[in-house]
Amino acid sequence: MLTVALPKGRLTADALAWMDRAGWPLPAGGDGRRLVVPSTDGTLSYVMAKPMDVPVFVEQGAADLGIAGLDVLRERNADVFEPLRLPFGYCRLSVAAPAARPERPLRLEINPRVATKYPRLTEAFFRQRGVAAELIVLSGSVELAPLVNLADLIVDMVETGHTLAANGLIERRTLLDSQAILIVNRASYRLHTAAIEHLIDSLRHVVLTAGERTTRPKDQ
Ligand code: PRP
Repeated sequence: MLTVALPKGRLTADALAWMDRAGWPLPAGGDGRRLVVPSTDGTLSYVMAKPMDVPVFVEQGAADLGIAGLDVLRERNADVFEPLRLPFGYCRLSVAAPAARPERPLRLEINPRVATKYPRLTEAFFRQRGVAAELIVLSGSVELAPLVNLADLIVDMVETGHTLAANGLIERRTLLDSQAILIVNRASYRLHTAAIEHLIDSLRHVVLTAGERTTRPKDQ
């Protein structure tokens, strides 16, 4: 039986909808508190994980495959097979600053305090620009940090931009464009190639078909 890691939270509904379209057996009920759920037909086992942990479950082989955000996959730097990007979960990882802060190139920032849930990507971003940032690592509500003078800048995920706007913050730079992605444990892929290829192909087929539907001119 293959084990699939799914992210709990904002990606869950879209992930289930695409799996359903692809004909994958879905998790059997559950009240949202059960963390290991068999599929309705008993052929798959689902692990419901925190989004940031899905790449870890898959890289370590606790799950054979999973659906993750590209942002958390790059932050975790997980060595997994990445066969298919999925058409949801679009967002970006951006640097943002209080609107009142004077606008200057990021490379001219001097020892900025940067709050983030993405320390690895944030450290690399500033290091590549020769900026010695002081990282303030938080686990949520990162936008709060500049409001209470805990940080000068933030690096956080932006989807609609509403949270930034509501807190007087302005996007300064995009580090990474993100979307959902299917990931597979490398050893599992070698051991269960046929079964995993079947799952990948079914999902790829509905993703490509949907793409063709949305890009085809109306008059054809
Ligand atoms: C994410 C992110 C921003 C917000 C962005 O937080 O960290 O706070 O969503 O979305 P928006 O651009 O559509 O406003 P999430 O809801 O995952 O919760 P968290 O802050 O507790 O991590």
